[in-house]
This record gives sequence, C-alpha cells and structure tokens, in this order.
Amino acid sequence: MKRAIEIAPVYEAKELAEVLAELPQDSCIFLVDEVFRSRWNLQKALYCKAGESLKQVTTFAELMPKIIELSAGIGKKDLNIVAIGGGSIGDFAGFVASTLKRGVRLIQIPTTWLAAVDSAHGGKTALNCGAYKNQIGSFHQAEKIYLVKDLLAEQPQNLLEDAYAEILKMAFLKEPQILEQVDDIWSILPQAIQAKYNYVLRDPFEDSGLRTELNLGHTYAHVLELEHQLSHGKAVGQGLHFAIAWSAAKGYLKNESAPQLQTILNDNYHPWMGLKIPAQNFLANLLQDKKMQKDKQLRFVFLEDLGKARVENVAAEEMLEFAKEWQCLC
Ligand SMILES: NC(=O)c1ccc[n+]([C@@H]2O[C@H](COP(=O)([O-])OP(=O)(O)OC[C@H]3O[C@@H](n4cnc5c(N)ncnc54)[C@H](O)[C@@H]3O)[C@@H](O)[C@H]2O)c1
Repeated sequence: MKRAIEIAPVYEAKELAEVLAELPQDSCIFLVDEVFRSRWNLQKALYCKAGESLKQVTTFAELMPKIIELSAGIGKKDLNIVAIGGGSIGDFAGFVASTLKRGVRLIQIPTTWLAAVDSAHGGKTALNCGAYKNQIGSFHQAEKIYLVKDLLAEQPQNLLEDAYAEILKMAFLKEPQILEQVDDIWSILPQAIQAKYNYVLRDPFEDSGLRTELNLGHTYAHVLELEHQLSHGKAVGQGLHFAIAWSAAKGYLKNESAPQLQTILNDNYHPWMGLKIPAQNFLANLLQDKKMQKDKQLRFVFLEDLGKARVENVAAEEMLEFAKEWQCLC
C-alpha cells in the first residue's frame, strides 16, 4: 500500500551537534561520509567513502552485514537509518532504509548543497549496477530532513557550483523569481525545495508523468556522466544547455529566450564545455535511460518559456541527430 507523504524539512541555523543530541541515538544507525570521521560522537555509525562506488550494488552487499550487525537489539519499529552526507550517501542510505527488515525509518542530514536542495527530498533511493547508474532503487520518503546551515556552509566552492545546476533547473521550470536573489543560496533554498515538493506531492511515485519535468537537463546529463568523469551537478548544468538549445532549435523556446537562459547558466558556474562523445556511445548511453519508452522513444523535457516545460516523446535517433548538429559528437 503506497502511503501519502507529508514532509516538512527542518531548517536549522544551529550546529549539527545540537540536532544529533535530539535524536534517539540508541535506535539510530548513522551512515556517514568518511570526511566526517571522528567529528561527532556517534554510538552506532558506519563511515563510508562517498561517490558512485558506494552506490554499487556490490558495495551494498558488502556493507549490509555490518549494518545488520549494528541493528542488533533495536526493534524494527524504533530503528532509524540516518544519512549524514551528500547525494551518494543519501541515495545509499535511502535504499538501505527501504529494504532493511522490509523498511525502516529514514532521516536525512544533507552535507552538500546539492543534497540539501534536491536529492534529500522526494524519496528516490538509488544504487548503480556496474556502469548502469541509478537503475536499482525504490521510493522511500525520509521522515525528517535537517538542513543545518553551519554544516552546509563549510563546503568547498566546487560543491556549491554543483548545486546551482539543480537550483537553476527549478528556476527555469517553475520558480523564475529564484533568479532575483540567486547569489544567496541559504535564502533561496526554501523556495527551490518547495518547488520540488509541489511536483513530488502531486506525483510521489512518478505515476502521472508530472514529476518527469524534474528531469529537465538530466537526459543529456546522464549520457555525459557515463562518458566523462563529471559530477552530477556539472553534468546537469551541461544538460540544461542542451535542453535549451534543442528547445530553441525545435521552435518551442522563443529565439530571444535561449541566449538569456544560456547567459544565466554561464554566469552561475555552468558555461557550455562542448564535451564530445563518440556517436555510438551517445546512443548506447541514451538507451539505458530510465525514461526510455517503447520503440526507443524517450521522454524529453523541453522548455517553452521561463517557468513552462513541455514533455514530449522523442526518438533516441532524433536526439542523436541534434547532438550531431550541436557538435557534441566525435
Ligand atoms: N535521489 C535523488 O533524487 C537524487 C537527485 C540528484 C542527485 N542524486 C544523486 O546524488 C549524487 C550526487 O550528490 P553529491 O554531489 O552531494 O555527491 P557526493 O555525495 O558524492 O559528494 C560529493 C563529494 O563531496 C564530499 N562532501 C560531502 N559533504 C561535504 C562537506 N560538507 N564538505 C566537504 N566535502 C563534502 C564527499 O565526500 C564527496 O567527495 C549522485 O549519486 C546523484 O545520482 C540523487
């Protein structure tokens, strides 16, 4: 039975130590990015190396016995899996929480801006299977999401840049007013997160297709991520350029809007990099996309205007053609 979801992220200006003191430590298993090893005094913690390798199904199989061991003596109803880390830790912890004892509570404490603005919200969990990214997963909403300003503010600049791709995506899709105060990430966080929940609450399990709009920029991003060692945020930034250019080429986006949106991306850490992909790899990577429909058609998110998306089925070959025209192939 699918549950209705009710989530209110908790915005905390205080230190993480204070948030941790409020949690029932004896019934929490903390899955923590190893960059925070020995930072806090946690009773039952597993420190993990963040990144795509953590999300490998083989790593899941390796770590699960340790997690089960840590859960000994805690009743299923009391057990909490607490993720402290970026999107990779959150995706992994989410999958653990959704499968351990057929599902236990999940608490997300994102430590990257990307996780704070996007991946910690919406209930998507994910594992990778070899080169196939995010192909295994479930929907498992966090019971609580704590956004701790002091912790988030520590991040290096490259992680801030990554988050801007998802923030600009939300601005382009539904919240153009974000662009008016784009420099102040903490103040735009609630708006960007709320915009995501406006999709998630209406289509929590991606049944109606509405939530597909959140995929803006992601189809090309996934092709790129498989080919080049780019972070998710950087790849989405490039994917937004691709979606804008294709929307303009198809005549969906007004001619004067495309350069305006491209300038916004360029000015906010995501200039077009012009990375090349061999044509056969482009098509092979595309065919793995989770949004692939029958007959090699995929759901592609175009833009018609700032604040207005258009989702359409397109043939994979048609996307390849545009990639060629836009000089993305080699
Ligand atoms: N579930 C979803 O809805 C969803 C949405 C978007 C992205 N994602 C997933 O999120 C992942 C990307 O997330 P991410 O960019 O947060 O990556 P990440 O978790 O791999 O973290 C990136 C790097 O930052 C380091 N780090 C984390 N917090 C830090 C901090 N406060 N200070 C210094 N370094 C810190 C990590 O150790 C790592 O090296 C991808 O796997 C992507 O597929 C999931």
